[in-house]
Amino acid sequence: MLQVKELSKNFGGVQAVKNVTLEVNKGEIVGLIGPNGAGKTTLFNMISLFLPSNSGEINFLDEKIDTSTPEAVVGKGLLRTFQTPVGFPKLSLLENLMVVPPNDSEGLFSIFYKKKKIIREEQEHYDQVCGLLRQFNLYEKRNELAENLSAAELKLLELCRQLMANPKIMLLDEPASGVNPIMLDKMVQHILRLRSEGMTFLVIDHNLGFIYRICDRIYCLANGELIASGTPQEISNNDKVKSVYLGAS
Ligand SMILES: Nc1ncnc2c1ncn2[C@@H]1O[C@H](COP(=O)(O)OP(=O)(O)OP(=O)(O)O)[C@@H](O)[C@H]1O
Ligand SMILES: [Mg+2]
Repeated sequence: MLQVKELSKNFGGVQAVKNVTLEVNKGEIVGLIGPNGAGKTTLFNMISLFLPSNSGEINFLDEKIDTSTPEAVVGKGLLRTFQTPVGFPKLSLLENLMVVPPNDSEGLFSIFYKKKKIIREEQEHYDQVCGLLRQFNLYEKRNELAENLSAAELKLLELCRQLMANPKIMLLDEPASGVNPIMLDKMVQHILRLRSEGMTFLVIDHNLGFIYRICDRIYCLANGELIASGTPQEISNNDKVKSVYLGAS
């Protein structure tokens, strides 16, 4: 589904990502781990086209996307979350999701001619938002301001926001950070449920227990380079991973 071939990125003198090649197949949950500054977020930024790469190639759904735009790849179904949740702290949860336009939003012209259709679509949009909030146990808090949510609830709201855009693959940047153990169990369940419904994931996190629980395969980056890949069991026994990652933390 997603193939990254020999992707590189320089920031001035710093080579943040060096010739990284990886792939994610449909229905997989793939992990991306590595110490602070390894280049994980930079890789996400390039895959989601927030940052241009210096060299290499990105293919999504059998199409080369490196010269595309962030909006176009979202339209194709590639969605990413941010390490620091975005959104609108002063808006309610309902409002935070209602502002995400439905995929087939109508132009001004049609408002005059298709009033009934627009009203029906508004209702469907509202029902979709409420359905998502229920799925993620956030419905009771629908009228609370997003700024009053816990770190874990904000991460779940972020997942809901991405799901509004009908993703085919979700790139999650540290979904477990700041999340307490009970909520972490819930996060695991939500991700596994979404996968059982057909979703594909590429997930960055420093919480290796979390990564080992959800991932089929894992890639490990250090100093911008891929140093290992394999199953959770292979990665947890890999000496290079132990020395650069576990040794560094
Ligand atoms: N916009 C930027 N300008 C200059 N240097 C940058 C920029 N973004 C990242 N870097 C550098 O690139 C390297 C990789 O950073 P990146 O944020 O991708 O790491 P990371 O693996 O996501 O780390 P963390 O686990 O701390 O989130 C670091 O040395 C960082 O300082
Ligand atoms: Mg990062």
